[in-house]
Amino acid sequence: MRVGVIISGKGSNLEALLQEAAKPSYPAEISLVIADRPCDGIGIAARYGVPNVEIVPHKDYETPGLFEEELTRLLEEHKIELVVFAGFMRIVHTNFVKHWRNRLINVHPSLLPSFKGLHTHERAIDYGVKYHGCTVHYVNEHLDDGPIVGQSTVRVLDDDTIETLAAKVLEKEHKLLPACVKKIASGKVRIVGHRVI
Ligand code: GRF
Repeated sequence: MRVGVIISGKGSNLEALLQEAAKPSYPAEISLVIADRPCDGIGIAARYGVPNVEIVPHKDYETPGLFEEELTRLLEEHKIELVVFAGFMRIVHTNFVKHWRNRLINVHPSLLPSFKGLHTHERAIDYGVKYHGCTVHYVNEHLDDGPIVGQSTVRVLDDDTIETLAAKVLEKEHKLLPACVKKIASGKVRIVGHRVI
């Protein structure tokens, strides 16, 4: 399966995916990486020899719609079958979501449906939850809301800080994301309503 990964930052999830995808038995290849700004993840993509790496600066587009059209154009040009948002820090709109429905996943640093949006680790600590974690889900029209492909948990300890909790969750993301992409690319996943079977 040809996978396109869209990033905005450090790219550690991208790197985890590239490490797994390098194994001969992995059923997906990372054919394209797009960043919406210059960022560290671009260097990672180049280091792993991703064949197509593009920067599409969102600031260069008059509207989010035009920016998203350019993303779709590139993804189509490279015959991408599954789009992965891996630390992509923008919200996408109806046309993009409709076009890529059931072919677009995101990794989010909380156990959805708790703590949608930003600052998830801080909010988890403030709320006092005892378990936190990460979720890989299909993207729908609502923020951090689509059918859940997989989740992974961590304990929240009394002395956890935002930083220690973020590090524990990120480590889980690095295992969860490649595992979920593998399941999808192996054809083992089916969406039934809001559930992923
Ligand atoms: C991850 O925690 C991701 O879930 C969140 O931002 C962080 C980015 O990590 N949206 P990276 O860019 O993959 O290192």
